Amino acid sequence: MTDPHSYASLEQGRVSACSMNLTIDFEARVVRGRVRLELERPTQGPLDLDTRDLEIQRVEDSQARPMAWSLGEPDPILGRRLRLQLPEGTDSLEIHYSTSPGASALQWLQPSQTAGGRHPYLFSQCQAIHARSLVPLQDTPRCRLTFQAEIEVAEPLRVVMAAAREGSEPGQMPGRRVYRFRMPQPIPPYLLAVAAGNLEERRLGPRSSVFSEPEMLERAAWEFAGVEDMIAAAEGLFGPYRWDRFDILCMPPSFPYGGMENPRLTFLTPSLLAGDRSLVNVLAHELAHSWTGNLVTNASMEHFWLNEGFTVYAERRILEALEGAEATALHAAIGRQGLGRELARFGEGSPHTRLRTELHGVDPDEVFSLVPYEKGYLFVRLLHEAAGQERFDAFLRRYIERFAFQSITTEEFLAFVEDELPGVLGRVRAREWLYEPGLPDNEPLFPSRRKEAAESLARAWSSGARPGDDVAGRWAASEWLLYLEALPRPMKPEECRELDERFRLTDQGNSEILSAWLGLGIVSGYAPAVERAAGFLGEIGRMKFLRPLYTALAANPSTRERARALFEELRESYHPIAQAVVEGILR
Ligand code: BES
Ligand code: ZN
Repeated sequence: MTDPHSYASLEQGRVSACSMNLTIDFEARVVRGRVRLELERPTQGPLDLDTRDLEIQRVEDSQARPMAWSLGEPDPILGRRLRLQLPEGTDSLEIHYSTSPGASALQWLQPSQTAGGRHPYLFSQCQAIHARSLVPLQDTPRCRLTFQAEIEVAEPLRVVMAAAREGSEPGQMPGRRVYRFRMPQPIPPYLLAVAAGNLEERRLGPRSSVFSEPEMLERAAWEFAGVEDMIAAAEGLFGPYRWDRFDILCMPPSFPYGGMENPRLTFLTPSLLAGDRSLVNVLAHELAHSWTGNLVTNASMEHFWLNEGFTVYAERRILEALEGAEATALHAAIGRQGLGRELARFGEGSPHTRLRTELHGVDPDEVFSLVPYEKGYLFVRLLHEAAGQERFDAFLRRYIERFAFQSITTEEFLAFVEDELPGVLGRVRAREWLYEPGLPDNEPLFPSRRKEAAESLARAWSSGARPGDDVAGRWAASEWLLYLEALPRPMKPEECRELDERFRLTDQGNSEILSAWLGLGIVSGYAPAVERAAGFLGEIGRMKFLRPLYTALAANPSTRERARALFEELRESYHPIAQAVVEGILR
């Protein structure tokens, strides 16, 4: 059983620790230096590593003797294999190298792309298979490693990593500073993460701080102030937090995801800063990965649902503990709406709607979807209901305990469930859920009075029903989302105007509501929505918003050219992964 996205071959040996000495060069847009790789046990013969766009200068053994190496032909998805020839008894080696300005894991921001506007900024995003463009290693979650790092940058910039902070000292050259880190818990390579910029820290509680540019720090600290309560709730559900600290890095707007669960330092999009804590489910999600994903890890992207389906389930258990069952049912309903749209997009019978996928020759970024998240959630929730809450809670803790710091497949998961909860898999028809496309007919349902109320108001739009000011005034963000998504589409532009004037939707500060509204406005040909979308697409690079808005603009012949022109103008401000996604939409 091998990872279709890695050249690594584990019979050759395993890298179990690494030590990086790197310098960040903002002028050249490269990271250069050396990495020492330590093998689990002394080995000899070939050792294949993953690389992408790395320039390898030399490889040395532990006595600084040159070691033979060769780079294979580049593959568009995998990158290039780096084959080392290890002399007998090799237990460590050192690679001197530099990254390329186009490294897929890195985004280099000009000062104008930051909140402060005065300093450059760099951040990494290694999931799914981009760590190899930052460090040569066995880039498969099957191979966990601990690490140390020393990273040099120009003052007054500060480097942060998803690791324990070990202090800093002046570098060799004046005006340079070296930051030291250590990660004692073994991680899969996709959880390597680094950022550098004009960063400040604000303490949130005994185990957590938030970092961001000073211009955003106050807002970020307010929005995420509930993090300690979340950690406590999560520990009550899933067992002890095993990563010591849980810090947050509030990212620049071009960060392409809502959040990334980098251990000890979750990365979050600034589009969560709604000013009312209504979007903190993303924080709960990334925190939940500290158990499901970072402790129990998918063996490859073919088992990604194990990471994300379980984490959406865990996220909603945390929310339920903090906000109650009704609020959680609303989140589940939004997820279910999204899943319905995704299933329709892929079409009946599409292999992309399976939970366990087959990804030979497939770029994981290209098939990213809500399916592993929301179909995975429904499946885990079904297991929960079939086993009963008490038994399932005990099962979850044993699952996490049993596979902590390991990477597993769907099949290993199934064997464990069969042992622990005999008969449950058969009862829920697990094979159908995991291996067949689409949605089986036994999905769990979450009846919610508030969901029904919002959706039936939306469905009755054409017969003149409108939310009263009292009703809409009490709606949570999630009810607005359910309402907007359930409205008929397209609407008449005058109808959009009516809604907009009553509820000031085009001026929304909640990025999720704004995005849902703009999507509806664009397909309805409502000009103010098109204008606001053009502005919004320049303010935020989160793919969750770029995807539907560029799709809507491109679908309507009257705005298609506008979408192209807008993208030409904004392309450079987007993350490389986001650029590729928008290109795919506009092609
Ligand atoms: N690990 C993912 C982000 C990711 C997945 C990056 C695959 C690259 C490849 C993260 O935990 C995530 O799921 N983020 C979601 C949050 C949401 C489901 C609450 C996002 O970014 O929207
Ligand atoms: Zn996730």
